[in-house]
Amino acid sequence: MRLILLGPPGAGKGTQAKRLEERYSISQISTGDMLRAEVKAGSPIGLEAKAIMERGDLVPDAIITAMLAARVSTPASAKGFILDGFPRTVPQAQALDQMLAEKAMPLDHVIELKVDDAALVERIAGRFTCAKCGEGYHDTFKQPAQPGVCDACGGTEFTRRADDKAETVAARLDAYHRQTSPLLPHYAAQGKLRQVDGMAEMDEVTRQIAAVLGAG
Ligand code: AP5
Repeated sequence: MRLILLGPPGAGKGTQAKRLEERYSISQISTGDMLRAEVKAGSPIGLEAKAIMERGDLVPDAIITAMLAARVSTPASAKGFILDGFPRTVPQAQALDQMLAEKAMPLDHVIELKVDDAALVERIAGRFTCAKCGEGYHDTFKQPAQPGVCDACGGTEFTRRADDKAETVAARLDAYHRQTSPLLPHYAAQGKLRQVDGMAEMDEVTRQIAAVLGAG
């Protein structure tokens, strides 16, 4: 199964991608996570991407597309994948169309998580993750069962993203509306676009996605 999750920052793409990864045994491919790993490693890509990400702008298409192509070619991707945060521009979508056509790996669905912009700042500002295993939490919507201890791995250190400040979130939302929302008609024209209510509770969003995938 090959899917794209589309939606603005904070729509719940990462949250749902992790659930789908477990349920369907397919890989989550998050270009945001890949870039953050490059930044952490201090690689040339990371050095170029860091300031761009902290401003809330998009990293150049050529860098992202090369990174994604390498990842889609790994054996782990052969079983299927969930693209989380890619594509984000029309040129990225066109590059993906070509890449998948050459590999005879057609997309099954593009799922848009529909959300209200007003809710996103609260979602993003409250987000934190386990520093050890990356499990995601939220100050209001998803606290660890035992405060300060990760449910998944027992870790006790948590981090917040550098680009999750309110002013950066506004720039990220603006980039979504200007550069990424034109992908909705692109995939609608291919007959692949499906929509789910990203404002519903997390479990309900998962249920709606499963219904789209035919396993509801
Ligand atoms: P990226 O890492 O992709 O971030 P994003 O798209 O801004 O999305 P987020 O990770 O912020 O949100 P999400 O939709 O995954 O929501 P989540 O599940 O965490 O990109 C970061 C940056 O990297 C970009 O700005 C850009 O610079 C660069 N980049 C990445 N890809 C690129 C590309 N292809 N081209 C160019 N540049 C690129 O949920 C958010 C919070 O809400 C969580 O705390 C969660 O617990 C909570 N939550 C989730 N669902 C619900 C729900 N239903 N109800 C209540 N709370 C919920």
